[in-house]
Amino acid sequence: MTMHAPSSTLQAYLERLLRRFADLDGGRVATYIPELAKADPRRFAIVLATVDGQLYEVGDARLPFTLQSISKPLVYGAALQDRGPERVARAIGVEPSGDAFNSISLEPGSGRPRNPMINAGAIAAAALLQGDDGEARLARLLDALSAYAGRPLEIDAAVFESERTTGHRNRAIGHMLRNYGIVSDDPEPALELYFKQCSVRVDCRDLALMAATLANGGVHPQTGVRAVAAEHIGPILSVMTTCGMYDFSGEWVYRVGLPAKSGVGGGIMAVLPGQLGIGVYSPALDERGNSVRGVAVCEALSRDLGLHFL
Ligand code: DON
Repeated sequence: MTMHAPSSTLQAYLERLLRRFADLDGGRVATYIPELAKADPRRFAIVLATVDGQLYEVGDARLPFTLQSISKPLVYGAALQDRGPERVARAIGVEPSGDAFNSISLEPGSGRPRNPMINAGAIAAAALLQGDDGEARLARLLDALSAYAGRPLEIDAAVFESERTTGHRNRAIGHMLRNYGIVSDDPEPALELYFKQCSVRVDCRDLALMAATLANGGVHPQTGVRAVAAEHIGPILSVMTTCGMYDFSGEWVYRVGLPAKSGVGGGIMAVLPGQLGIGVYSPALDERGNSVRGVAVCEALSRDLGLHFL
């Protein structure tokens, strides 16, 4: 099977893949953000988007869920664009931490988050977005994420409220970042922007098109709109490759071999540079916060379509 197979062959393959993993056991929906506990663990979708704008979708491809950590590489790219790599590097490293996504551990001495994929790095990235006030920075955020999706995206107010009222660990991280001067002011505005980016409502089609935009050098394959400058695609894909699956990133590169990012809303976005964006949705998560069916599907796609880049 190759990526250049006829569309009917690819569509039939995806239907088989959906059936093959539909009954895969294991995993639980996230509950630490109460609103996420309402997700149906049986829901499941797979979408492929090619860089010439073709979409192949199976399952619950139009069911809404929230981006959660899948927003992190996209906001990191916006921060690179707004502040430049040197300024961003002073606030956020690019080293895999080997820790869980919610680790409070920061670099000794500097207090710098090790990478932009863990919550600490993502909060620091949100703090770097341009804008004279909260409203302008929110507009900047939503414009960037919507450009990757190719349609106007909105915030799920119930998930935002649920995250804002229970995000005590993230507030502790925010104040640690303030303590080290990584966040220069009161961390609350950056935390609120971070909670909002995580609460952006998408579907599995959006995930695949976001990934295809990254695969396409930063240009959306259907709208032709540039979501991020081409110079930032390499840095974004590199941290997705080394850090995107947290303390599973090493095994992910070994088994799947694609830049990717997971989210506790149940999505996984994976990128085959120059060719393809992959979106998988299934909210039953493993102990690391990665979708159980999402990991299994991406491993099968990599093997069956020969996508592993190594
Ligand atoms: O801050 C949090 O904990 C969530 N809003 C995002 C965490 C997440 O998606 C981890 N990725 N699997």
